[in-house]
Amino acid sequence: MSSREKGQRPQRICVSSGKGGVGKTSIAVNLAVALAQAGHRVLLVDGDLGLANVDIVLGLTVSRTLRETVEQGAPLREILATVSEGFQVLPASSGVPEMANLSAEEQAFLTNALEQVEQGFDYVLVDAAAGIGESVLWFNRWAEHSLVVLAPDPTSMTDAYALIKVMASRYGRRGFSLVVNNVKSHREGEEVFAGLASVLRRFLHLEPRLLGVLPADSTVVKAIRAQRPFLLTHPEARVSRAMRALAARLVAGPA
Ligand SMILES: Nc1ncnc2c1ncn2[C@@H]1O[C@H](COP(=O)(O)OP(=O)(O)OP(=O)(O)O)[C@@H](O)[C@H]1O
Ligand SMILES: [Mg+2]
Repeated sequence: MSSREKGQRPQRICVSSGKGGVGKTSIAVNLAVALAQAGHRVLLVDGDLGLANVDIVLGLTVSRTLRETVEQGAPLREILATVSEGFQVLPASSGVPEMANLSAEEQAFLTNALEQVEQGFDYVLVDAAAGIGESVLWFNRWAEHSLVVLAPDPTSMTDAYALIKVMASRYGRRGFSLVVNNVKSHREGEEVFAGLASVLRRFLHLEPRLLGVLPADSTVVKAIRAQRPFLLTHPEARVSRAMRALAARLVAGPA
C-alpha cells in the first residue's frame, strides 16, 4: 500500500487504441481507481480534446476545462476535479473540435502547464482520443509509456498496429504495453495478443508486453450507465479483479 517515493517525477502512461470504442475511457478511469486504491496518487488527464467524456463516465460536474486553460492561460491546478482519495481528473471539453488540433504555441503551453500540475502525483494517465491524429501522437510522445488497447475484432488489431507503427517508425518508441479488452476467455485474449505480437515482431522488430486481459462483462456497461467506475459499483466482478491484477503488473514494472 505504499506510494512511490516523494519528489519523484510521476510515471506518465498514455492509453490509446487506434480504433474507437474499444474501451480506452473505461480502462483509463478504472485503472486510475485501482492505482488510487493501492495507495498511489493518480492524475487522469482527459486527452480526448475534441470529444471528451471522462467527466461523463465519472458523473462529474465540471465548469472549467483544459480548453479555457489553453485559451486563457489559466492555471491547470484550478480545474482539477477530485474523484476520490488520491484520484484527480483534469477534464477536457466536449464538442470543441478545434481543440483537437493545437497550434505549436498551444502545445508548448500545454506541455508546460501539465509539467507543473503533475507534480505530487505518482501516475499520470492520459485517456487519448481514437485514431492516430496529432493529439494522440502528441500525448503518446509526452508520456513515456504507451498502453495500447485492443479488442478481438480484426479492425481493432490493424488499427492498434497502425498506431504502434507510427510511434515506432516516426518517434522511435520501442516499448508498448497491450491490453486486450472485451474477450470471451483469457485464452482468447492471449491469442489476440499473440497475433498482434507476431506481426510486430516480424515487421517492426518489436516485442510488446501483455499488460492485461479484460473479460467482456455486463458490469462495464452498467457502470457507464450509472456514471461510476465499475471497480466501485462491482468491486468483485471478474472485470474488476482483472483490472486490479493489471494495475499491480503496471506498478511492478511499466516498461
Ligand atoms: N470489458 C467490457 N465488457 C463489456 N463492454 C465493454 C467492455 N469494455 C468496453 N465496453 C463497451 O464499449 C463501450 C465503449 O467503451 P469506452 O467508451 O471505454 O471506449 P473508448 O475506447 O474510450 O471509446 P472512444 O474511442 O469513443 O473514446 C462502452 O460503452 C461499453 O459498452
Ligand atoms: Mg473514450
